[in-house]
Amino acid sequence: MCGIIGYVGKEDAVSIIVEGLKKLEYRGYDSAGIAVYGASGFFDVVKQKGRLASLEAGLADNPLTACIGIGHTRWATHGEPSDINSHPHVGNQSKVAVVHNGIIENYKQLKENLEHSGIVFSSQTDSEVIAQLAEHYYNGDIMETVIKISGRLEGSYALGIMCVDEPDMLVAVKKDSPLIIGVSKNGNFIASDVPAVLKHTNEVYYLEDREIAVLTKDSVQFYDMDKQPIQKTPETITWSFDSAEKGGYEHFMLKEIMEQPKVLRDTINSATVSGECKENIENLDISRFNKIVITACGSAYNAGVVAKYVFEQLCRLSVEVELASEFRYKDAIIDSKTLVILISQSGETADTIAAMREAKSKGAFTLAIVNVVGSTIAKESDLCLYTAAGPEIAVATTKAFSTQLAILYALAVRFATSLGKLSSETENELLCEIKALPEKVTEILKHIDSIQKVASSYVGYKSIFFIGRNIDYAIALEGSLKLKEISYIHSEAYAGGELKHGTISLIEENTLVVAIANCERLYGKIMSNVEQVASRGASVLLIGSCKNDEPDERVSSIVLPDVHELFSPSLSVVALQLLSYYVAANKGLDIDKPRNLAKSVTVE
Ligand code: AGP
Repeated sequence: MCGIIGYVGKEDAVSIIVEGLKKLEYRGYDSAGIAVYGASGFFDVVKQKGRLASLEAGLADNPLTACIGIGHTRWATHGEPSDINSHPHVGNQSKVAVVHNGIIENYKQLKENLEHSGIVFSSQTDSEVIAQLAEHYYNGDIMETVIKISGRLEGSYALGIMCVDEPDMLVAVKKDSPLIIGVSKNGNFIASDVPAVLKHTNEVYYLEDREIAVLTKDSVQFYDMDKQPIQKTPETITWSFDSAEKGGYEHFMLKEIMEQPKVLRDTINSATVSGECKENIENLDISRFNKIVITACGSAYNAGVVAKYVFEQLCRLSVEVELASEFRYKDAIIDSKTLVILISQSGETADTIAAMREAKSKGAFTLAIVNVVGSTIAKESDLCLYTAAGPEIAVATTKAFSTQLAILYALAVRFATSLGKLSSETENELLCEIKALPEKVTEILKHIDSIQKVASSYVGYKSIFFIGRNIDYAIALEGSLKLKEISYIHSEAYAGGELKHGTISLIEENTLVVAIANCERLYGKIMSNVEQVASRGASVLLIGSCKNDEPDERVSSIVLPDVHELFSPSLSVVALQLLSYYVAANKGLDIDKPRNLAKSVTVE
């Protein structure tokens, strides 16, 4: 996810674009850039790695003056953060400048075709292909050119395009990525999101897929792909800037919970269809290893515990899961026949980096699952699979965790198949189950109000227990962490069968126990745990796809869609995230920035 902005009007484009990019940094911030049509009659471009402050420093050294320009703040997906990979991208003829938000899935084929026709690329990005393709097709009519490239691009895109031959015009087009058109008496805007233009106008048009917008300083016109004019109605934005940055949600955490169907779909496509993840996975011969160790911290560790059940069930291989802070000091028994899987959203967690370096020093092969392109773990691991969660602003991880699970499921299916443990029929069935997860998550999100209602009755609890059996126990760990870190209520996750070995002494009147029940074959067992705690006065919340066939006034239920047991954590966790979110929201806490926590723990 990146942020794009463009302006054409009577005012200073550079300051408007830079201010707009500041309002879009939540969409990505590893590099930024700006291109303007300058007095020289060509594009003046300043772009570089780093936060927006770096771009501002660059502009101070190289001031630009213009009334038309485009800007970009990047979240790297293809090509690590660097000056040359930052946007805008300009074609080799310096005729067309482009900013892009999205992923061009067929960029490799397009790039090869263009290279065969003699075009030399300078970056490793998918986005540069758009600029080069536009110049390749350009015949004097930039709108005609935009129509042609729109027919060739596969994947998602929101584009801002300038052409030196048509210096008073800004062209925009989109497919599957957001793009708004802002209008004002002092000029007109394109932007990924409303916050970027709210200072100048609250009158915006929402561009629909494959609609073209043509902006000049005093006009905005819309066309379809046949160059036929389209009439659109503007909307008046009534949000404040702050809520607009969160897409209208009160907190980034809720916004990111709601983004899960989309980012899950993006990640699953990259891991199972034709994306880089799939190709990378296929390069890894699992049969060369006799041991798998997963190591991570916090929620990423919890994802590893879920993965243990999935890998062991499908691959019939023993899997160890270790806290990175422990693994780094335990002189682990690993060698060149060990596959060490490191999971990290930020790719910068100190303990996980140390665990990776310890594993490499012992000759193990390190496979990383990371969300931040170009991060330390991504760069130093032997093989890196990227989640496609986009920037995650809330300290408490939600969408990044869910996309980690998706990659781990795909990895387990791929390994099990290559080990001969799955027939191609079973492999396909499992892959279909994984691809169906985004829709099932969407189904759960439709019932957000009922979860909010349940959560509102849990605000007063001082201690909450999460229990489950097998893979339900694994996701109970994440449910407990989510609740603790944003609501400050003490909680523990326990294997259901382990309660009676001591901890059940803590269960008393008004204790809350959240029982997770997706495993049909163990349903009776977890329900006997429910009976044990309810009979001692606990209130119970049952979460899962298993239906409670013995309604009891002490037991509330959140019923989840049916799903393959091994992938049920992806559904349970959404209910658990929402439960924690609404408990914390009822307590009026700073949900996006909980006390004592940091988004990335880069120190020991
Ligand atoms: C998760 O909600 C926490 N913010 C924290 O446990 C986090 O998962 C942990 O610090 C690991 O971070 P990483 O995924 O960036 O390595």
